[in-house]
Amino acid sequence: MSSALVEALRAGLPADAVLTDPDVTSSYAHDMASFCDAGAPAVVVLPRTVEQVQHVMRTATALRVPVVPQGARTGLSGGANASDGCVVVSLVKMDRILEISPVDRIAVVEPGVVNATLSRAVAEHGLAYPPDPSSWEMCTIGGNIGTASGGLCCVKYGVTAEYVLGLDVVLADGRLLRTGRRTAKGVAGYDLTRLFVGSEGSLGIVVRAVLALKPRPPRQLVLAAEFASAAAACDAVCAVMAKGHLPSLLELMDRTTIRAVNSLAHMGLPETTEALLLAAFDTPDPAADLAAVGALCEAAGATQVVPAEDAAESELLLQARRLSLTALEAVKGTTMIDDVCVPRSRLGDLLDGVERIAEKYALTIGVCAHAGDGNTHPTVCFDAADPDESRRARESFDEIMALGLDLGGTITGEHGVGVLKKEWLARELGPVGVEMQRAVKAAFDPHHLLNPGKLF
Ligand code: LAC
Ligand code: ZN
Repeated sequence: MSSALVEALRAGLPADAVLTDPDVTSSYAHDMASFCDAGAPAVVVLPRTVEQVQHVMRTATALRVPVVPQGARTGLSGGANASDGCVVVSLVKMDRILEISPVDRIAVVEPGVVNATLSRAVAEHGLAYPPDPSSWEMCTIGGNIGTASGGLCCVKYGVTAEYVLGLDVVLADGRLLRTGRRTAKGVAGYDLTRLFVGSEGSLGIVVRAVLALKPRPPRQLVLAAEFASAAAACDAVCAVMAKGHLPSLLELMDRTTIRAVNSLAHMGLPETTEALLLAAFDTPDPAADLAAVGALCEAAGATQVVPAEDAAESELLLQARRLSLTALEAVKGTTMIDDVCVPRSRLGDLLDGVERIAEKYALTIGVCAHAGDGNTHPTVCFDAADPDESRRARESFDEIMALGLDLGGTITGEHGVGVLKKEWLARELGPVGVEMQRAVKAAFDPHHLLNPGKLF
């Protein structure tokens, strides 16, 4: 079977685009999530053209072989993990920026373009592609679309879904579907574009995307505010949002996260503080906006408010924040990263609850958060070699999702469901929601070949 599959694939792909050496293919088995099962791919293909992707899908459908699409595998939910005997379709070689149009304010790209590469390319035209996951130097646009990624600047500029205008998608049977538009407006038919954003490779393979761009904002200036409790920091977040401010970033790091970042990268963040809030503005007068937000932080009980001196210092603070999850991983060797998003008015309740859960399970749980979005990453740090600690880690991870749902939130704000949160998706959607989602899946993928075992 496997050799018939490889032979059929080779008929429509260049020799160097079909990898079968198990030592090589095994390196494509999983993304960056812990605690997620991954199978052994039968073969990894690296297509360079739409026609080659179509050939792969026609072959897979003819032979009824599962297909797992992948970008840079920086995902955090196991959504790109291989299943046994599957064809991994890595889109990283389809990495051309096909068009940048300052008049239409769009970019047309292939899925393997790295997020930061696109950002830099459009910056040369005075434009910005805002969604900026922490992994932006590595992650691909195709992966960003698959997981509907967020990032640090979403509090002002919104998430990936708001920037995807149109898609070319290779369907399970190899047909090419074109969705959406390249116009500023458009309401013709169901919004299939949006349906694909966040579909985690389960409905088709994105081979081209039309993305909306924004004028490049001025450089942002950052302020760091220290708080004696996470609750006070959350009060400050609510005050900033209630007063109608539009920060370009509003991030929180708790004491555990701060210490982890310092010990990994010697950033010199203040270690005695319980919570650090980073706020930024890219407005015409960021210093004035930061002063207003600084005053709100002080009113909420900030013990120190320190505006960055210049753009370089601002960038350093952002780097510290982006390092948070890597740093937390170094605490005990393994992490399980929650991605619970609650209405921001409930942020304080969520952080309170996480503290209680950490105590109950006697675990270290560091929290960094896109606080302005109510999107938190409580990160359970544990030793995977210790079975009891691993069990407690999984239970506490689940309890945090339950808490998020109780507070009117969602189990995932930006990392997706993948394998990690499969059981929880049904709890969030309810039986009717699951039934309709399955019906959509069946319409696009009747033989259940695309990324099986994910989401449901
Ligand atoms: C972050 C990514 C992991 O917030 O979502 O750093
Ligand atoms: Zn995040």
